[in-house]
Amino acid sequence: MSRGESRGLKGLVVLKIGGSVITDKTKEMTYRPDVMGRISREVARCWPIPLAVVHGAGSFGHPIAKRFRLNQGYRQQEQLEGFVKTVQSVKALNQMVTEAFIETGVGAVGIPASLLFIAKKNVIETAHLDLIFSALDLGIIPVTCGDVVFDRETRFSILSGDDIVVYLAKALKANRIVFATDVDGVYEFDRTTGRKTLIGRLDYRKHVSLSYGDVEGDDVTGGMFYKVEAAFEAVKAGVKVCIVNGLVEGRIESAIKGEEVHGTVLVS
Ligand code: IPE
Repeated sequence: MSRGESRGLKGLVVLKIGGSVITDKTKEMTYRPDVMGRISREVARCWPIPLAVVHGAGSFGHPIAKRFRLNQGYRQQEQLEGFVKTVQSVKALNQMVTEAFIETGVGAVGIPASLLFIAKKNVIETAHLDLIFSALDLGIIPVTCGDVVFDRETRFSILSGDDIVVYLAKALKANRIVFATDVDGVYEFDRTTGRKTLIGRLDYRKHVSLSYGDVEGDDVTGGMFYKVEAAFEAVKAGVKVCIVNGLVEGRIESAIKGEEVHGTVLVS
Protein backbone atom coordinates (compact mmCIF):
# COMPACT_ATOMS: atom_id res chain seq x y z
CA MET A 1 0.00 0.00 0.00
CA SER A 2 1.58 3.25 -1.13
CA ARG A 3 0.00 5.43 1.52
CA GLY A 4 0.44 5.01 5.22
CA GLU A 5 2.84 7.56 6.64
CA SER A 6 1.80 10.74 8.37
CA ARG A 7 2.46 13.59 5.95
CA GLY A 8 0.32 16.48 7.13
CA LEU A 9 -1.91 18.50 4.85
CA LYS A 10 0.61 20.71 3.09
CA GLY A 11 -0.16 20.85 -0.61
CA LEU A 12 -3.49 19.08 -0.16
CA VAL A 13 -5.51 18.50 -3.32
CA VAL A 14 -9.27 17.88 -3.28
CA LEU A 15 -10.44 15.89 -6.29
CA LYS A 16 -14.08 15.85 -7.38
CA ILE A 17 -14.86 12.96 -9.69
CA GLY A 18 -18.12 13.78 -11.47
CA GLY A 19 -20.94 11.28 -11.39
CA SER A 20 -21.03 11.48 -15.19
CA VAL A 21 -17.46 10.17 -15.27
CA ILE A 22 -17.79 7.11 -13.06
CA THR A 23 -21.42 6.21 -13.81
CA ASP A 24 -23.51 6.04 -16.94
CA LYS A 25 -26.07 8.76 -16.33
CA THR A 26 -28.39 7.38 -18.97
CA LYS A 27 -28.83 4.06 -17.14
CA GLU A 28 -29.87 3.94 -13.51
CA MET A 29 -27.29 2.46 -11.11
CA THR A 30 -24.64 1.84 -13.75
CA TYR A 31 -21.06 2.07 -12.52
CA ARG A 32 -18.06 2.28 -14.85
CA PRO A 33 -15.41 0.06 -13.21
CA ASP A 34 -12.96 0.48 -16.11
CA VAL A 35 -12.99 4.28 -15.84
CA MET A 36 -12.66 4.21 -12.06
CA GLY A 37 -9.83 1.67 -12.29
CA ARG A 38 -7.90 3.93 -14.65
CA ILE A 39 -8.52 6.97 -12.40
CA SER A 40 -7.25 5.00 -9.39
CA ARG A 41 -4.03 4.23 -11.24
CA GLU A 42 -3.60 7.92 -12.10
CA VAL A 43 -4.14 8.81 -8.43
CA ALA A 44 -1.63 6.14 -7.37
CA ARG A 45 1.01 7.83 -9.53
CA CYS A 46 0.45 11.12 -7.65
CA TRP A 47 1.86 9.78 -4.40
CA PRO A 48 2.91 11.45 -2.07
CA ILE A 49 0.61 14.42 -2.77
CA PRO A 50 -2.04 14.44 0.01
CA LEU A 51 -5.48 13.95 -1.48
CA ALA A 52 -9.15 14.00 -0.45
CA VAL A 53 -11.70 12.64 -2.93
CA VAL A 54 -15.35 13.56 -3.42
CA HIS A 55 -17.34 11.74 -6.08
CA GLY A 56 -20.70 12.57 -7.57
CA ALA A 57 -23.76 10.36 -7.21
CA GLY A 58 -24.48 10.09 -10.94
CA SER A 59 -27.05 7.45 -11.81
CA PHE A 60 -26.91 6.13 -8.22
CA GLY A 61 -28.40 9.37 -6.86
CA HIS A 62 -30.10 11.73 -9.29
CA PRO A 63 -32.88 9.46 -10.61
CA ILE A 64 -34.15 8.38 -7.16
CA ALA A 65 -33.70 11.87 -5.72
CA LYS A 66 -35.71 13.30 -8.58
CA ARG A 67 -38.47 10.69 -8.35
CA PHE A 68 -39.01 11.42 -4.65
CA ARG A 69 -38.42 15.18 -5.02
CA LEU A 70 -35.75 15.05 -2.32
CA ASN A 71 -34.36 18.46 -3.35
CA GLN A 72 -37.55 20.05 -1.94
CA GLY A 73 -36.75 18.78 1.56
CA TYR A 74 -39.27 16.86 3.64
CA ARG A 75 -42.84 17.41 2.48
CA GLN A 76 -44.49 14.05 3.02
CA GLN A 77 -43.95 10.66 4.57
CA GLU A 78 -43.69 8.92 1.16
CA GLN A 79 -40.39 10.70 0.46
CA LEU A 80 -38.69 8.80 3.27
CA GLU A 81 -38.51 5.73 1.07
CA GLY A 82 -36.54 7.83 -1.44
CA PHE A 83 -34.35 9.25 1.31
CA VAL A 84 -33.28 5.87 2.68
CA LYS A 85 -32.89 4.33 -0.79
CA THR A 86 -30.65 7.21 -1.87
CA VAL A 87 -28.51 6.86 1.24
CA GLN A 88 -28.09 3.13 0.49
CA SER A 89 -27.47 3.56 -3.20
CA VAL A 90 -24.87 6.33 -2.84
CA LYS A 91 -23.20 4.29 -0.09
CA ALA A 92 -22.92 1.36 -2.52
CA LEU A 93 -21.26 3.61 -5.13
CA ASN A 94 -18.93 5.04 -2.48
CA GLN A 95 -17.98 1.49 -1.54
CA MET A 96 -17.11 0.63 -5.16
CA VAL A 97 -15.06 3.79 -5.65
CA THR A 98 -13.15 3.19 -2.42
CA GLU A 99 -12.59 -0.45 -3.38
CA ALA A 100 -11.12 0.63 -6.73
CA PHE A 101 -8.49 2.73 -4.94
CA ILE A 102 -7.64 -0.08 -2.54
CA GLU A 103 -7.33 -2.61 -5.39
CA THR A 104 -4.75 -0.29 -6.98
CA GLY A 105 -2.78 -0.26 -3.74
CA VAL A 106 -3.96 3.18 -2.65
CA GLY A 107 -5.09 3.44 0.99
CA ALA A 108 -8.61 4.88 0.99
CA VAL A 109 -11.51 5.02 3.41
CA GLY A 110 -15.09 5.62 2.29
CA ILE A 111 -17.07 8.11 4.36
CA PRO A 112 -20.43 8.86 2.68
CA ALA A 113 -21.58 12.42 3.19
CA SER A 114 -24.76 11.21 4.92
CA LEU A 115 -22.49 10.19 7.83
CA LEU A 116 -20.22 13.21 7.65
CA PHE A 117 -22.39 16.30 7.37
CA ILE A 118 -25.53 17.87 8.80
CA ALA A 119 -26.98 20.69 6.72
CA LYS A 120 -29.21 23.64 7.45
CA LYS A 121 -31.34 24.73 4.48
CA ASN A 122 -29.06 22.89 2.05
CA VAL A 123 -25.87 24.43 3.43
CA ILE A 124 -23.37 22.36 5.43
CA GLU A 125 -23.68 23.30 9.09
CA THR A 126 -21.84 20.55 10.94
CA ALA A 127 -19.03 18.37 9.62
CA HIS A 128 -17.11 15.59 11.34
CA LEU A 129 -13.88 16.98 9.98
CA ASP A 130 -11.89 15.03 12.55
CA LEU A 131 -12.64 11.91 10.48
CA ILE A 132 -11.15 13.54 7.40
CA PHE A 133 -8.15 14.92 9.29
CA SER A 134 -7.47 11.54 10.90
CA ALA A 135 -7.50 9.74 7.55
CA LEU A 136 -5.25 12.34 5.92
CA ASP A 137 -2.90 12.23 8.87
CA LEU A 138 -2.47 8.50 8.31
CA GLY A 139 -1.80 9.13 4.63
CA ILE A 140 -5.12 7.52 3.70
CA ILE A 141 -7.45 9.14 1.17
CA PRO A 142 -10.87 10.01 2.60
CA VAL A 143 -13.49 9.32 -0.07
CA THR A 144 -16.83 11.08 0.34
CA CYS A 145 -19.58 11.92 -2.13
CA GLY A 146 -22.55 14.01 -3.22
CA ASP A 147 -25.39 12.63 -1.12
CA VAL A 148 -28.64 13.21 0.71
CA VAL A 149 -28.01 14.35 4.30
CA PHE A 150 -30.00 15.26 7.39
CA ASP A 151 -30.98 18.92 7.50
CA ARG A 152 -31.85 20.88 10.65
CA GLU A 153 -34.43 22.99 8.85
CA THR A 154 -35.78 20.96 5.92
CA ARG A 155 -35.14 17.59 7.68
CA PHE A 156 -33.12 16.30 4.75
CA SER A 157 -31.47 17.91 1.77
CA ILE A 158 -29.29 17.10 -1.21
CA LEU A 159 -25.66 18.08 -0.94
CA SER A 160 -23.86 18.22 -4.24
CA GLY A 161 -20.31 16.95 -4.40
CA ASP A 162 -19.33 20.36 -5.78
CA ASP A 163 -20.47 22.11 -2.60
CA ILE A 164 -18.70 19.49 -0.48
CA VAL A 165 -15.45 19.97 -2.40
CA VAL A 166 -15.53 23.72 -1.86
CA TYR A 167 -16.39 23.30 1.83
CA LEU A 168 -13.56 20.80 2.38
CA ALA A 169 -11.01 22.79 0.38
CA LYS A 170 -11.70 25.87 2.51
CA ALA A 171 -11.87 23.99 5.82
CA LEU A 172 -8.70 21.98 5.15
CA LYS A 173 -6.90 24.93 3.52
CA ALA A 174 -6.27 22.91 0.39
CA ASN A 175 -3.80 24.03 -2.22
CA ARG A 176 -5.87 22.95 -5.19
CA ILE A 177 -9.22 21.60 -6.32
CA VAL A 178 -9.43 19.41 -9.42
CA PHE A 179 -12.88 18.93 -10.93
CA ALA A 180 -12.93 15.89 -13.21
CA THR A 181 -15.97 16.15 -15.47
CA ASP A 182 -17.09 14.54 -18.73
CA VAL A 183 -16.10 17.59 -20.81
CA ASP A 184 -12.77 19.35 -21.34
CA GLY A 185 -13.70 22.41 -19.27
CA VAL A 186 -15.77 25.57 -19.68
CA TYR A 187 -16.68 26.56 -23.23
CA GLU A 188 -17.63 29.83 -24.81
CA PHE A 189 -20.38 29.54 -27.40
CA ASP A 190 -20.51 31.87 -30.37
CA ARG A 191 -24.23 32.29 -31.03
CA THR A 192 -23.75 33.39 -34.62
CA THR A 193 -21.33 30.71 -35.81
CA GLY A 194 -22.45 28.06 -33.30
CA ARG A 195 -18.76 27.35 -32.61
CA LYS A 196 -17.57 26.53 -29.12
CA THR A 197 -14.13 27.33 -27.80
CA LEU A 198 -12.56 26.01 -24.61
CA ILE A 199 -11.70 28.80 -22.16
CA GLY A 200 -8.21 28.13 -20.76
CA ARG A 201 -8.37 30.76 -18.01
CA LEU A 202 -11.69 31.95 -16.66
CA ASP A 203 -12.22 34.89 -14.34
CA TYR A 204 -15.44 35.67 -12.46
CA ARG A 205 -16.54 38.52 -14.76
CA LYS A 206 -16.25 36.32 -17.78
CA HIS A 207 -18.03 33.47 -15.97
CA VAL A 208 -21.14 35.54 -15.22
CA SER A 209 -21.24 36.80 -18.80
CA LEU A 210 -21.30 33.29 -20.28
CA SER A 211 -24.42 31.53 -21.42
CA TYR A 212 -23.68 28.02 -20.26
CA GLY A 213 -26.59 26.42 -22.01
CA ASP A 214 -26.80 23.88 -19.19
CA VAL A 215 -29.68 21.55 -19.65
CA GLU A 216 -30.72 20.46 -16.19
CA GLY A 217 -32.07 17.13 -17.45
CA ASP A 218 -32.31 14.56 -14.70
CA ASP A 219 -29.83 16.29 -12.41
CA VAL A 220 -31.09 17.62 -9.12
CA THR A 221 -27.95 19.64 -8.36
CA GLY A 222 -27.39 21.83 -11.43
CA GLY A 223 -24.73 21.76 -14.15
CA MET A 224 -21.51 23.55 -15.09
CA PHE A 225 -22.70 27.07 -14.19
CA TYR A 226 -23.44 25.99 -10.64
CA LYS A 227 -20.15 24.12 -10.36
CA VAL A 228 -18.13 27.15 -11.48
CA GLU A 229 -20.17 29.51 -9.29
CA ALA A 230 -19.44 27.33 -6.24
CA ALA A 231 -15.80 26.92 -7.23
CA PHE A 232 -15.19 30.68 -7.28
CA GLU A 233 -15.90 30.61 -3.52
CA ALA A 234 -12.77 28.53 -3.17
CA VAL A 235 -10.81 30.76 -5.54
CA LYS A 236 -11.71 33.71 -3.29
CA ALA A 237 -10.26 31.77 -0.37
CA GLY A 238 -6.96 31.37 -2.24
CA VAL A 239 -7.47 27.81 -3.53
CA LYS A 240 -6.34 27.01 -7.09
CA VAL A 241 -9.12 25.46 -9.15
CA CYS A 242 -9.06 23.63 -12.45
CA ILE A 243 -11.64 21.70 -14.44
CA VAL A 244 -10.49 18.82 -16.63
CA ASN A 245 -11.93 15.93 -18.59
CA GLY A 246 -11.80 12.86 -16.38
CA LEU A 247 -12.63 10.59 -19.31
CA VAL A 248 -9.33 11.39 -21.02
CA GLU A 249 -6.39 9.41 -19.69
CA GLY A 250 -3.71 11.42 -17.89
CA ARG A 251 -5.58 14.69 -17.34
CA ILE A 252 -6.52 14.02 -13.71
CA GLU A 253 -2.97 12.94 -12.93
CA SER A 254 -1.45 16.07 -14.52
CA ALA A 255 -3.98 18.33 -12.82
CA ILE A 256 -3.32 16.84 -9.38
CA LYS A 257 0.42 17.26 -9.94
CA GLY A 258 -0.14 20.90 -10.90
CA GLU A 259 1.20 20.43 -14.41
CA GLU A 260 0.00 22.36 -17.45
CA VAL A 261 -3.09 20.50 -18.61
CA HIS A 262 -5.83 20.86 -21.24
CA GLY A 263 -8.80 22.25 -19.31
CA THR A 264 -10.07 25.42 -17.63
CA VAL A 265 -8.26 27.17 -14.78
CA LEU A 266 -10.28 29.60 -12.67
CA VAL A 267 -8.46 32.84 -11.96
CA SER A 268 -9.30 35.66 -9.56
C1 IPE B 1 -25.63 14.59 -6.25
O1 IPE B 1 -24.29 14.79 -6.12
C2 IPE B 1 -26.20 13.94 -5.00
C3 IPE B 1 -27.51 13.26 -5.20
C4 IPE B 1 -28.25 13.36 -6.23
C5 IPE B 1 -27.98 12.42 -4.12
P1 IPE B 1 -23.45 15.49 -7.30
O2 IPE B 1 -24.18 16.69 -7.80
O3 IPE B 1 -22.09 15.74 -6.78
O4 IPE B 1 -23.43 14.35 -8.40
P2 IPE B 1 -23.00 14.42 -9.93
O5 IPE B 1 -21.54 14.64 -10.01
O6 IPE B 1 -23.79 15.55 -10.57
O7 IPE B 1 -23.41 13.07 -10.44
